[in-house]
Order: sequence, then structure tokens, then C-alpha cells
Amino acid sequence: MEVQWYPGHMAKSKHQMEQSIRLVDLVVETVDARAPKSSRNPDLDELWKRKPRIVVLNKADLADQEATAAWVSYYQQQGAKCLSVNAASGKGVKEIVRTAEAMVEEIRPESKKGRAIKMMVTGIPNVGKSTLVNRLCGRSQAARTGDKPGVTKSEQWVRVSSNLMLLDTPGILWPKFEDPETGVHLALIGCIGEQAVDTETLAVELLERMKKSYGSRLMERYRLKEEDLQKTGYELLVQIARNRGHLLGGGRVDTGRTARMLMDEFRQGKLGRMTLEEAPCESQ
Ligand code: G4P
Repeated sequence: MEVQWYPGHMAKSKHQMEQSIRLVDLVVETVDARAPKSSRNPDLDELWKRKPRIVVLNKADLADQEATAAWVSYYQQQGAKCLSVNAASGKGVKEIVRTAEAMVEEIRPESKKGRAIKMMVTGIPNVGKSTLVNRLCGRSQAARTGDKPGVTKSEQWVRVSSNLMLLDTPGILWPKFEDPETGVHLALIGCIGEQAVDTETLAVELLERMKKSYGSRLMERYRLKEEDLQKTGYELLVQIARNRGHLLGGGRVDTGRTARMLMDEFRQGKLGRMTLEEAPCESQ
């Protein structure tokens, strides 16, 4: 499956990020814990080379806990600070503040000690940047960052703690995919809009992945038999459609309806916590 995706404003957002980098001491790079590799933009490595960074694995409530722990230790081995967070509930958010304060304190020259630390939150669309910014600012979920009518677009700073200021606009970067697998993972976790990918194709990709690592969950939720897991992704989709009674006239099955159901259930976490990518082994 190849995902077609040509975001027109990629260059503009990168330029804006380059401007913002000058303003901050530290960056919080937000990624989706279900796809911690695909939901990073490697351009950030270039952009933020000289800035301390905290990698935040957000939506940890939807990801496999063991896999998240492996990713945290992988990023830490790479020399980055890494934390797992649920921005929706606020779990882990205070740890970001503590870590940021400690990191900047450590590297600041004596002459700059005591000045407020400036931080910004970045990431590709839909990883939860706005939710995280709102949490850090102590605002309700409903307040959409950078989307408030009548509010100037120029830089705005919000005080998070006595010595931490947050740039009130999350920095958006666009996904980059060198390999097609990245595109599939981004589409599955909803970082690429529905218009770029056909839902049925996506549901088949999900089933292919789930039958390998999470087959028992599929069996349980959709009343499948063990031998059904030998089927192809598309055959599984048809089987689930039958089991759920998603039928059209003339004995045909409504695989489109089943695909939409599957994708909704996956994204809502109804199929259980799941991570699509394994952390590389230490030697890699
Ligand atoms: P963005 O700025 O990076 O584009 O992402 P945003 O904060 O808008 O979040 C995208 C979606 O992810 C939102 O759901 C948000 O509620 C959800 N989200 C953010 N953080 C977490 C998390 O830690 N766990 C879970 N489970 N979800 C999270 P939405 O359905 O698009 O909007 P809404 O229904 O919440 O309004």
C-alpha cells in the first residue's frame, strides 16, 4: 500500500520552526507512542541540533506498555531525555516540567542562572501537541491553541511555573516517509487524513499487523477462530463483516462498513493497547 501525501505548506512550517528555534532554550518533541519512529520528523534533528530536547511519547494510554518502556530506554540510550505521557488525562505532564527545569539548570552558564526557561512543543499533526500545550498551561482541553479568533498570531508566552515559560503555539512539522511502512503507520494512527488513504485498504493493513502480534484480541472481539488467523487481511475483513452481520443484499458483505468500524475501534483503543513499531535493539 502506498500513501500519497503532498502537504503544500511543508516548507512554510519548517521556515517558521527555524524562526522559533531562536526563541527557546528547550524543545519538547511530541511523538505518538503507538508509532514512535514514524511519527517523528527527522528534520527536527537538524533543526534542533544545538537545543536540548525532551522526546515525549504521547498517547501512552493507547500504546503497549512494554513497548513504550523499550522505546523510552532506546531514546535515552541515544542521549535524549524521553518520557511517556497521556496529555489527554495529564498523566506524566508534571514530569516534563521537572525534567525541563533540571536540564536547563544543568547546562546554563552562571551568568544566565535565574532567568525563566523558554520551551516549545513540536510534532507532526495529530500527535497531541495542542492537548499537551493546554495541559502545560493548565487550560481546559477545549481551548484550541493558536485557533482563537481575535488573538494575534505573534509569539505568545505562557508561564508554566515560576521559572518556565512556554511558547503558546505548537510547532508543526510534517511527516516524512522514506519507506512506505511509515506512511501506513501514520495513516493507522490518524496522522494522515482519511482523504489520503482508502479506509478499506487501511483496515486490511491493520488486520495484517494485528493477526501477527495481537491475534487473540481479534479472535475475542470479533468471534474469530484460531484458523481464521491464517487468512489474508482481506479475507479476515470479510469474515469479521459476516460475524458482525454487515451484509448487503444478494449475500454480499459490506466490507466498507466493517473497515470503518475497525478503524474507529482501533483509534478509540477498543482493540486494546497497541504499538505498531518495535524499538531497535541496543546494538542497532
Ligand atoms: P495536534 O495539536 O498535535 O494536532 O493534536 P491535538 O492536541 O489536537 O490532539 C489530536 C487528538 O488526539 C485529539 O482527539 C486529542 O484529544 C487526542 N489526544 C491528545 N493526547 C492524547 C493522549 O494522551 N491520549 C489519547 N487517548 N488521546 C489524546 P480528537 O478526537 O481529534 O479530538 P477531541 O475529540 O479530543 O476533541
